[in-house]
Amino acid sequence: MPLTEISINNFRCFEGIVISLSPGINFFYGANGSGKTSILEAVFIFSSGKSFKSSNLASLIKHNTNNFMLKAYDGKRGYIAEIKKDKNKSISVELNNNKIVTSKLIKEFPCTPIHNNTFSFADASPDFRRKLLDRSIFIAEEEFSKTWFSYHRALKQRNHMLKNNRISDIYAWNNKLSKDGEMLSKFRNNFFDKTLQEFKILLKRLEPNNIFDFFESISINFSQGWSEENTLIQSLEKNEQKDLQRKTTTKGPHKSDIKFLINEIDARQILSRGEQKFFSILWSCAQHEVLKKHYQIEASLIIDDIRSELDDRVFSLFVELLKHIENQIIFSCIEDCFSSKIIENFKEFKKFHVEQLG
Ligand SMILES: Nc1ncnc2c1ncn2[C@@H]1O[C@H](COP(=O)(O)OP(=O)(O)OP(=O)(O)O)[C@@H](O)[C@H]1O
Ligand SMILES: [Mg+2]
Repeated sequence: MPLTEISINNFRCFEGIVISLSPGINFFYGANGSGKTSILEAVFIFSSGKSFKSSNLASLIKHNTNNFMLKAYDGKRGYIAEIKKDKNKSISVELNNNKIVTSKLIKEFPCTPIHNNTFSFADASPDFRRKLLDRSIFIAEEEFSKTWFSYHRALKQRNHMLKNNRISDIYAWNNKLSKDGEMLSKFRNNFFDKTLQEFKILLKRLEPNNIFDFFESISINFSQGWSEENTLIQSLEKNEQKDLQRKTTTKGPHKSDIKFLINEIDARQILSRGEQKFFSILWSCAQHEVLKKHYQIEASLIIDDIRSELDDRVFSLFVELLKHIENQIIFSCIEDCFSSKIIENFKEFKKFHVEQLG
């Protein structure tokens, strides 16, 4: 659910600020180093307990202070979340004054960040695309996380057996792995199909303003990680010799991917950086549409540095896209690229000059 207010203390360059957010579009602009990414990072922490920029949370504590404290309000539900990080302690999270584990945050304050890594979505490793899909399914499907962890535990065990050549034990793990794996794949297939459907709807809406030729020729396929002709157990049995040789499970949902093809050629070999960035934003928006329409979950979208790589025409197309997205969007840019004429098109648009927030 959208955050309506956040307060940030001793976090990155900020000593103490309170920001009242719109449930619609929130646009932060300001010079290099003014704190735009830091604000987006703070919002993201409420959905994950993690930063999208640093693996070491202690580095987020403002220099010469001992802890950071973030508070968020969800005005619609009346929820308050508090996150505190002391230098030498692990992060502490409270929801309505009750301690919770960070893994619970994603369901309470779901959000997707689009940042420099996501911009090269088509170019990234399969692992990255899988994670982005899985993140949304974690939010949407109650049973998914149980299945996901169970599959990965079984996979670890099977790989351990393969490493130690314990052939007779592998049979037992094949069964467990295929049961969880088929289920995991069903979740992914289902969510992927819905996303593709929403993606096509968004493309249709943008059609009158479209400037990209590739929209017409792109085909997007979910590849489950093993041959479509076999069940997972058949595939595990078929590939057993290869797995024993390589000492790892070579086929299965841990190898699944989303393939983007343009005229039968891998999109990463064709799309320019700006095209990839726009495409990544569109795909993430489609995932959000699925969450909203099929699961009644309103997730926020965070986009850092929106204007980089996009020329005027593509930026106009992005503005067009914004008109069709009803979720909370929080994004940043070095310059104020939203004139009052553009803003007129939106009901709930808030603009923040970051230098003036302190
Ligand atoms: N732990 C910290 N304590 C104090 N300042 C920090 C800390 N971590 C980062 N900073 C500083 O905070 C400032 C804001 O960084 P941030 O990345 O949010 O800027 P930005 O507005 O996104 O800039 P850009 O336009 O270059 O992306 C930077 O000057 C950075 O050096
Ligand atoms: Mg930045």
